[in-house]
This record gives sequence, C-alpha cells and structure tokens, in this order.
Amino acid sequence: MPKDFLTVADWSADALRALLARAAELKDLSKRGERPPTLRGRTLAMYFEKPSLRTHVTFEAGMTQLGGHAILLRPEQVGIGTRETAGDVARNLSRWVDGLVARTFSHEMLEELAREGSIAVINGLTDRLHPCQAMADLLTVSERQDLDRAVLAYVGDGNNVANSLLLAAGVLGFELRVATPRSHRPDAAVYARAEELARSSGARLLWSEDPREAVRGASFVYTDVWASMGQEAEADERRKIFAGYQINSDLLREAPDAWILHCLPAHRGEEISDEALDGPRSIVFDQAENRLHAQKAILERLLAP
Ligand code: CP
Ligand code: NVA
Repeated sequence: MPKDFLTVADWSADALRALLARAAELKDLSKRGERPPTLRGRTLAMYFEKPSLRTHVTFEAGMTQLGGHAILLRPEQVGIGTRETAGDVARNLSRWVDGLVARTFSHEMLEELAREGSIAVINGLTDRLHPCQAMADLLTVSERQDLDRAVLAYVGDGNNVANSLLLAAGVLGFELRVATPRSHRPDAAVYARAEELARSSGARLLWSEDPREAVRGASFVYTDVWASMGQEAEADERRKIFAGYQINSDLLREAPDAWILHCLPAHRGEEISDEALDGPRSIVFDQAENRLHAQKAILERLLAP
C-alpha cells in the first residue's frame, strides 16, 4: 500500500474499491449516530496555499469524528520555500504528527513533501490533480448507479478535477467522456497515463471538442469552474473561450436523465446555469457531503495505528 494519497493512479482498483466501500460504511454508521474513534490520539496537519471551504472543513471534521485532531497551517506561518525548504518542513512535521494534507499550487512541491517526510501525505488539490474530490465523486456516482455501468461526461476546462477523473476511470474501468476546447485539454501526460491504465481496466475514455457528443446519453454530467484558483487574471478571456461549454437545460436535452455533478465552488451563470445547479437532477450537495465520508476512509487507511 502506498504511504501517501497523492494520485489515484498510485492505488490499485481493489484498494480504491475498498476505500469506497469503507466510505459508504462510515457514512451509514454516521447516519445512525455512530462514529468509531479509529484515529484516537492521531494528529493531522493541514497546509493550504489556496482558499478552501469543503476540503478544509471535511478533513478537520473528519479527524474530529474519528477521534483525532487536526491543525491548520497557513503558508504565511510556515513559509515553505521562504522561511525553510519543503523537505525541512516535512522532516519536522514527521516528528510530531501522523499525517499531512496539503493544498499546493505546485504538484512537485506536494511530491517533495511526501518524499522527504515519513508521514502520510494527502493531496488536498494541486494545480494538476484533485484525487480526494474524485473519490467523493465516485462515492456519489455509486450511490446512484453501479460504477461499471456509469457513463460520466465532464464538460469544461481540462483541469485538476478532469485530470483526476481520467486517472480514476483508468484505474477503475468506467466510461468517461471529456469535452474541452482544444486549447484547454486535460494534461497530456495525465491523459496518456489514463489511457495506459485503461488498457488493463477496460475503461472507455473519449476526448471531444463537442460538449453535445460527450453528454449524449450520459448518466452523469460533471463540470467545474472555467478559471481555477490561481487563474483569476485569465477569467475574462476564459469566459469567451468556454462560452459554448455551459451545463444548462439546452445541453441537458442530450441527456435528460443524467445526474448533475459539480465539485464546487460554482460560478453560477458561467460553467453552469442556476436551473441545472438547483434542479431536481443536481446531486452536488451529496457530492460535497461525500467529501467527508470518502476522506474519513482515506484518513483511516493511512493514519490508523
Ligand atoms: N471542491 C473543493 O475542493 O472545494 P474547496 O476548494 O472549498 O475545498
Ligand atoms: N479546478 C478548481 C477546483 C476547485 C475545487 C480549482 O483548482 O480551483
């Protein structure tokens, strides 16, 4: 088993399925008022270089619910790369706490924290990947449809969320269609890795420039913001590039029974209409809730004694 959770591509299909099964079990227990304290006495450090609502709150609440504790670290306190190196931060934290969830701009910095520290490092989002989001997404999908039969269509920017979904499809073998402008395709190396994984899992992966082609007959339609954190200066230009990629009732005529997914935060009226986000087929708040349950399973797997 890997020490860290940096990318779903490092984990086997069986291991990811076991995490999803444990997440569903923890969710069920929690609904019945049971919170097994499997991480009693354990501590998680949380380092965020970018804003967060869901990831921060669900990791912190998750640790509390499992009987452990979480400490929030801000970049201005820690100063990775200015006050001291990532390696020294990782070596210090490894002497005190049991795990670190980190949200960094640079994926390489996250890898360095994991390489130089002896504790479990969890990816809380980088510019390249968002694997904890993908796990919550798959838990949400599996609550509605057998994952093996699900057809996911992702429409919008080929960003960290799209990249992690591609790798998840590659490992687990479900169908994923991605529609992005040609200029904003998913990361080429990630796509190649997902295709390599798909050769053994049987995943069907499709990239198209045409959102209608991707969405037609899909059972889930997923989108994310057009300008990710750190790309705010490009927002105006991106609004023009992505104008034809909005999830709205017109596009959803191609998949009238599809469930709507969005990792949130949403930029209402940009990548998704209010009607789609608030409509009866939207399951975006189940998805947000499932961040908690999916991450509790990951925390248990990596931090339990
Ligand atoms: N979906 C997600 O990661 O949300 P936050 O940025 O609020 O953590
Ligand atoms: N792609 C978005 C995801 C936010 C959860 C971003 O990186 O800002």
